[in-house]
Amino acid sequence: MGSCKSSSCSSDTCGSADAAMAKQNLAINTSLGKIKQKILVMSGKGGVGKSTVSTNLALGLANKGYKVGLMDVDLHGPDICRMLNLTDKLHDTKIEGKQLFPPMQYGDNLKVISLEYMMEDRDDPIIWRGPLKVQAIRQFIADMDWGELDYLIIDAPPGTGDEPLTVAQTIKDAQAVVVTTPQEVALADVRKSLNFCKHVKMKVIGMVENMSGFICPHCNKNVEIFKAGGGEKTASEFGINFLGKVPIDPRIVIGGDDGSPYLSSQADSPSVKAFAAIISNVEKQLAGTASLSLKSADAAGCACGSSCNPTTCNC
Ligand SMILES: Nc1ncnc2c1ncn2[C@@H]1O[C@H](COP(=O)(O)OP(=O)(O)O)[C@@H](O)[C@H]1O
Ligand SMILES: [Mg+2]
Ligand SMILES: [Zn+2]
Repeated sequence: MGSCKSSSCSSDTCGSADAAMAKQNLAINTSLGKIKQKILVMSGKGGVGKSTVSTNLALGLANKGYKVGLMDVDLHGPDICRMLNLTDKLHDTKIEGKQLFPPMQYGDNLKVISLEYMMEDRDDPIIWRGPLKVQAIRQFIADMDWGELDYLIIDAPPGTGDEPLTVAQTIKDAQAVVVTTPQEVALADVRKSLNFCKHVKMKVIGMVENMSGFICPHCNKNVEIFKAGGGEKTASEFGINFLGKVPIDPRIVIGGDDGSPYLSSQADSPSVKAFAAIISNVEKQLAGTASLSLKSADAAGCACGSSCNPTTCNC
């Protein structure tokens, strides 16, 4: 018998596992208590521009002088390091005597965490299942020295799987920015993301329509490649804010591929203006809602109040 006080328990480790969990919950709450706003960037589909929106949102807020964190919880497809051209490795960083690990630093105001920071070889596939992913995300919060932050931006993988669910359960006051493209197939999936938010009682800051038209570099006319306006319509159907639309801009792809994030290039183009509008809309939506009412980091949360799976529950 281990340290468990229950007479029916035969596990050697249950007592110490509980204690470790309680300790980690405490560390999570301490970290989160110093972060004013937590924003989960999610979408129904992959490739719609979540990482692009996360990166530009984080950079735009950091450029305005806010202290910002960017946490990449797309564990199977972490892209943030590439997009910001960050090549640091955690094991190269001096951490002696410290209890918390230093995140990567981008400029003065932005701290970044991604699984790539911990990996020997970035091209290794990640083959983790649920529990390990939950643990990785909890450690990203508990073990990292985020310090005082105005905003923590969390870049999620597509859909409503383990990663966004873990964020919802661990960061009770996280709020969502949902990214979509204008086509009906993308919008069908985005409705699932919005329903997920409803089930886990996560507030939705609003919706971004990305790849919304293409501004022709020759004549400056807007070409609606994937139709446009569907995001705005879906947002109003769900009664949520529409934060803005970003047109397709080839410079965004180049910026994402070579690690020179688009917003930092100061171009006075429609997509840079679009990001600026989205950033100030997010700021406005969150102004005055600095939520420091932290609840405990354990206990799952579905709207029905039972311990069901919020993704599949029909409550
Ligand atoms: N508005 C846009 N115009 C042009 N390319 C874009 C735009 N938004 C995203 N991209 C490109 O599309 C690809 C997918 O975007 P990404 O942000 O990685 O999507 P997700 O994180 O949702 O999978 C990337 O190559 C990115 O540079
Ligand atoms: Mg991504
Ligand atoms: Zn043209």
